[in-house]
Amino acid sequence: MIRISMSKRCNPALICASLFLVAQLSFGQTKEKGLKDFYHDYFPIGVAVNPIDLNGASGNLVKKEFNSLSPANVLKMGPIHPEENRYNWEPADKFVNFAVANKMKIHGHVLCWHSQTPAWMFTNEKGDTVSKEVLLQRLKKHIFDVVTRYKGKIYAWDVVNEAIADEEGQFYRNNAWYRICGEEYIEKAFEYAHQADPKAQLFYNDYNTEIPSKCNKVYKMLKGLLDKNIPVSGLGLQAHWSIYEPSEKNLCEALDTYKELNINIQITELDVSVYPPEGVTRSLKPDEILPYTPEIEQRQSDSYKMFFRVFREYKAVIKSVTFWGVSDKVSWLNNFPVSGRTNYPLLFDRDMKQKKVYTDVTNFK
Ligand code: GLA
Repeated sequence: MIRISMSKRCNPALICASLFLVAQLSFGQTKEKGLKDFYHDYFPIGVAVNPIDLNGASGNLVKKEFNSLSPANVLKMGPIHPEENRYNWEPADKFVNFAVANKMKIHGHVLCWHSQTPAWMFTNEKGDTVSKEVLLQRLKKHIFDVVTRYKGKIYAWDVVNEAIADEEGQFYRNNAWYRICGEEYIEKAFEYAHQADPKAQLFYNDYNTEIPSKCNKVYKMLKGLLDKNIPVSGLGLQAHWSIYEPSEKNLCEALDTYKELNINIQITELDVSVYPPEGVTRSLKPDEILPYTPEIEQRQSDSYKMFFRVFREYKAVIKSVTFWGVSDKVSWLNNFPVSGRTNYPLLFDRDMKQKKVYTDVTNFK
């Protein structure tokens, strides 16, 4: 038994040392506060990662700042299911284990998409396009295999990504799924995912969801699915935005529209490019790289501040906010839409240091 004498318990030197320790600890905690702590009373703050982002200094930053993870690539159909009878589980398992070990939520991405999908999915051994029945059977098997493996660990899934067309006058994207199955592939994907894990939240995910014409189409499609009792539980706004758009008005109007559907809304792929919207023209070339001037930095801060103010105002419907990438160094926007062009879309710079914009989104005044 440890006996503490009266004189030791009241020793002023010991008391001072303990107070010093407590002060140090609380100072340390304040210093170590991450985005997830600033937003504790609002929503989880997530980040999309590749396996390399989970190592070393980047891994530490991920653990400190975020409490939700999305897989940037490892769960997509191409990477995880490269051949009909072969799955590449290892990178996905590592990603899931990292999140579970660090008590982070996992938002799975993505079960059905037109991009990063292996060619074998749509063709038979002779190279001919498969029938609707065969394709739906393959989709079902893929969804069951992947969702079941991570059941109870992945709480939400992007089930269908980008099924709506951007063009005026066209409703659904004319992709291989649509050409072979018609719009039914969307319903089926949600039904299969629900059968595989009835507790998982199931999302439709898309970009440009704040542009009124696309917003109308997304709303209409989701309303139709919900009216048919298709198990859709959420809408993901990708939020690949820029310092030029969306306006606060368009963003709020879109959120008000989606709110009527009574489903969860998540911001799933947030980043804020410093380049003007380029549409499909991709006019700027790599040699037209913009420097990150104080003016651009300020403008980006103003945009981010507005976006996060709106997110906080809509916290009753916005259930999570996820950044698409850890730092400016690893952002996909360094290669899109112009390969090799430097961009600065996130809250951490190329040395993983907090940018001015970090301070601004964590200051709620
Ligand atoms: C889309 C996809 C993501 C990712 C980003 C850009 O928004 O949903 O998986 O590919 O583009 O990297």
